[in-house]
Amino acid sequence: MKAKNKIPTVPISGFLTNALGILKNPLPFHHKNFEEQGDIFRLKIGLSNSVVFVRDAAFAEYVLQKNQKNYTKSKIQTEDLVKYIGKGLLTSEGELWKKQRKLIQPAFHKKQLENLLGSIKRAILTEYDKITDNTNTDVFPILNDLAFQTVVKSLFSSAASQEDINRLQYITEAAQKMLVRELRQPYLGWWFSWSGEIKKHLDLTLEARQILKRIVNERRLSQTKENDLLDMLLDAKYDDGSSMEEEQLIDEILILFTAGHETTSNALTFITQLLALHPEWQEKIYNERLQIQQESTDTIDLVTKSKDCQKVIEEAMRLYPPVYFIDRVNIEADCFKGLDIEAKSNLLFSVYEIHRHPKLWERPTEFLPERFNEGSRKFSSQYFPFGAGPRKCIGNNFAMFEMIIAVSELLSIYKIQPNFKTIEVTPLISLKPKNAFLTFQKRN
Ligand code: HEM
Repeated sequence: MKAKNKIPTVPISGFLTNALGILKNPLPFHHKNFEEQGDIFRLKIGLSNSVVFVRDAAFAEYVLQKNQKNYTKSKIQTEDLVKYIGKGLLTSEGELWKKQRKLIQPAFHKKQLENLLGSIKRAILTEYDKITDNTNTDVFPILNDLAFQTVVKSLFSSAASQEDINRLQYITEAAQKMLVRELRQPYLGWWFSWSGEIKKHLDLTLEARQILKRIVNERRLSQTKENDLLDMLLDAKYDDGSSMEEEQLIDEILILFTAGHETTSNALTFITQLLALHPEWQEKIYNERLQIQQESTDTIDLVTKSKDCQKVIEEAMRLYPPVYFIDRVNIEADCFKGLDIEAKSNLLFSVYEIHRHPKLWERPTEFLPERFNEGSRKFSSQYFPFGAGPRKCIGNNFAMFEMIIAVSELLSIYKIQPNFKTIEVTPLISLKPKNAFLTFQKRN
């Protein structure tokens, strides 16, 4: 297709005059520009730097799926993040990524995940013991610990001590916070290096790697089979029959911690907030669970048959997608709908805006889980909380299983009430909740 038009451009003055507001919450600024400029616009952020913002669902599908070979992830994932968590599934490109994806994918197949349901449920119930009823509670820290514990217990069963888990969680979160500071305040780069902040976090990462090596070696020596994710990763073989090298395995474990923990805790927090605002859906999920359990108390039946619960989770991730932007850079120049996309353009696909686009969704800002009555496939080109194409989230089934168990178990014990009027967000690397204050009231 031949290019006819240039992408509408917001000048650098538009960026500079709104810089403070953008730093606090860029979503209203993006929304205003989409409304004024259309579904694809360029924002100048320097003399020669610009970012192309997109809320065109067809363009997202084109880049993430149809012509994905011409698009790579941005430097944030393939360089900045690498120094803390290494090069693996989330952070690599090309042959290394292909090889790792092929090796690790089977561990995340639904059938294989069934082995993990017991560990996931135990981790969740242990965290719920921390809830105090009838008190104003910030639910985010509880669900954050829950998500981390779930990933660790799925990887290592009971092999990691609580002390190791706490340290690993502390280091994972500290490294993530450091990266957020580096990305949001690039002009302080010299200070982060000079003051030793970066080195301190790199040392912490080395400490995490030592802890993980110890756990992995103990498992290798023990010769026992736990059927957990670690066993799957240790047993997995490349096409030539070899196994993963130790350093690569540690990179992948750090990546699973990072990719699988914050996203899920954000999603779970938004879900509980929406449920608090919509008690009728709490009752639906509670009654659905009672019905399922009349026939079977197996966790696999709960996760596969809880359709109302699944709809609520899907609708919550439509309104509040934890990964609210997906970034790509094109290798060669491209053209979409007559628009010229020059080589090496920085593209940001706003999952948040596509999920709320008034031309794609009826009553887009309302919480209506029933729109997913026929499943999320119905909206496959405009609904992609887990991404799309070959780089789609490898943990999507894991996350759905975990969230269904977490929501269903929570509502079997408590009714939830909101201590806020509207849901507020903090958009950092992921979309984070801001005011998740709830009261839990024990069911009789
Ligand atoms: C609600 C929870 C989650 C959400 C919303 C989510 C979302 C996403 C998205 C949008 C991507 C694609 C990013 C891109 O294309 O640039 C992704 C990739 C990934 N996710 Fe998730 N994720 C979640 C949970 C998990 C969990 C639980 C795990 C593992 C335990 C996980 C592991 C990964 C990995 C390893 C990748 C990189 C895959 C690749 O590039 O081949 N995620 N996730």
